[in-house]
Amino acid sequence: MVRADPDSRDDQLTTVRVGLLGCGNVGGALVELVDKEADAISERSGVHLAITRIAVRDLTKDRASSGPPGRLTDDAMSVVEDPDIDLVVELIGGIEPAQSLIEQALRQGKSVISANKELLATHGAHLHDLAAKAGRDLLYEASVGGAIPLVRALSVSLAGERVSRVMGIVNGTTNYILSRMQSAHTTYEEALAEAIRLGFAESDPTADVEGHDAAAKTAIIASIAFNADVSVDDVYRQGITDIDIADIDFAQRRGYAIKLLALAERDGEGEDESIAVRVHPAMISNDHPLALVNGPFNAIFVEGEHAGELMLYGRGAGGQPSASAVLGDLLDAARALKRETTFLHPVRRRVRIRPIDELESTYCITLEVLDRPGVMAAVAEVFGRHGVSIRSMEQVGLTSEARMIFITHLALESDVQATLQGLKELDSVVRVGGLVRVIGDEDGE
Ligand SMILES: NC(=O)c1ccc[n+]([C@@H]2O[C@H](COP(=O)([O-])OP(=O)(O)OC[C@H]3O[C@@H](n4cnc5c(N)ncnc54)[C@H](OP(=O)(O)O)[C@@H]3O)[C@@H](O)[C@H]2O)c1
Repeated sequence: MVRADPDSRDDQLTTVRVGLLGCGNVGGALVELVDKEADAISERSGVHLAITRIAVRDLTKDRASSGPPGRLTDDAMSVVEDPDIDLVVELIGGIEPAQSLIEQALRQGKSVISANKELLATHGAHLHDLAAKAGRDLLYEASVGGAIPLVRALSVSLAGERVSRVMGIVNGTTNYILSRMQSAHTTYEEALAEAIRLGFAESDPTADVEGHDAAAKTAIIASIAFNADVSVDDVYRQGITDIDIADIDFAQRRGYAIKLLALAERDGEGEDESIAVRVHPAMISNDHPLALVNGPFNAIFVEGEHAGELMLYGRGAGGQPSASAVLGDLLDAARALKRETTFLHPVRRRVRIRPIDELESTYCITLEVLDRPGVMAAVAEVFGRHGVSIRSMEQVGLTSEARMIFITHLALESDVQATLQGLKELDSVVRVGGLVRVIGDEDGE
C-alpha cells in the first residue's frame, strides 16, 4: 500500500495495488471498469485502485482488456507472493489452482476477493478460518446473484435479524428456459437451444440444468443467512431436465409458475435447531413475487422474524454485473486496509442438516399411463399404500396413452419417494414425469 505525499493535494488518497488472477469474462470486465471509473472510485472512496499485475493461463490470447504490456503473467503464484501486491482478486474459478492461490495469499497477509461459488460452497469454512487466523478479509459478493448485493445484505444489513427462510431464483439459465417454455410455449429442448444461441447458457449446460450451480449458491446463502457450516454436499438437488411443457401448462391452468427454486430454511431453537437446504423445480403461486421473475434475472426472497419479507432482484450473472460486485468488495477491502482493520469474521456453527426425507410438502406428480381399464385403481392403491393422499387429479387422453397429473395433500418426502418407486413398478405406467413441489400453497408450505 502506497500512501500519498502528505503535502500533495490528494493527501487522503492511498494507492492500493491489486493482483488479479484471471482475466476472462469477469476479470476482463473488472479491468475495464477500474480503468473507466478510476477518478470516480478515488473521489468516492479515498482509495486509488491500481491493478498492477494480472495472471492468465494463455499469454498469447487476444484480449480486449489487459492494460499496459508487462502487467500480464502466466505465473499466478508469483502475483500472490509479490511483496508489492496488497490485495488479491481470484477470478479463475474451479477448485484448483484457485484454492492454493487463495490460501497462499491469506498466509501472506493479503485480503482476497473471489467470485468462485464452487470453491466457497465446498471449502468456504476452511478458507474463512484461514482468513480469520491471518486477520484478513475474504469477500465474495459476486459468487451468488451477480450484481445483486445479497451477501452484504445478509451478512451486514440483516446481521441482527433471525432469518427463517431464504428462497431464490439463483440461476439465470434455468429461469430463462422455464420462462420461455411458459411464455412462448416452446419445448424444453427448443428453449435450451435458444438460451445457448443467446449466450444465456453454456454449450454444455449440465451445471445449470442439473442444478449444480444453484446448489453451490444455496450452500453459500445458507452459510451466511444462518451463520452455519453448510457445504454443497448438504444441498438436496434436482434439476429441470424432467420438466415437460405439459407440467408448465398444468401449473399455469392452476395459477402457478414453475421455477427452479433455491431454498434455505431454519427450524427450531438451540439443540433442536436444524437447517434444510434444497434446489428443485417448484410450483409457486402467481401471487408470489418470485413467480414474476422471468428471463435470465435472479431474485432472492428473504423472510425474517422482525424484518418481515423482502426481495432483492437483478442481473445474476454476466461479466459486467459480476465485475461491479467484485469492485464493491475490492473497495471495502481496500478501505479496511487503509484503516488497518478488517471486517468481523462470522462465527460459523455446526447445525444439523435436515435430510430431504423429512420434508413435508404438497407435490405435483405427472404420470403417463396406458389408457385401459383398472389403471386408476392400481395407481390409487400405490398412493394409499404409502399414506399419500390425493387432493386433485386431472386426466388428459393422448392416443393409446393418457397423462394423469396429481396434486397431493401435505405429505412426507420419504412417503412420496416410495410412492414414485411403486408407480414405476406398475405395468400400466409408461413414464413417471418430474416431481414438482408446491410452494406457498395453503395445504403445502
Ligand atoms: N461469468 C459470469 O457471469 C460469472 C458470474 C458470477 C461469478 N462468476 C465466477 O467468476 C469466476 C470467473 O468466471 P469467468 O466467467 O470470468 O471465467 P473465464 O471467462 O473462464 O475466465 C477465467 C480466467 O482465468 C484464467 N485462468 C485459468 N486458469 C488459470 C491459471 N492456472 N493461472 C492463471 N489464470 C488462469 C483464464 O486465462 P485465459 O484467459 O488465458 O484462458 C481466464 O482469464 C468463476 O469463479 C465464476 O464462477 C462468473
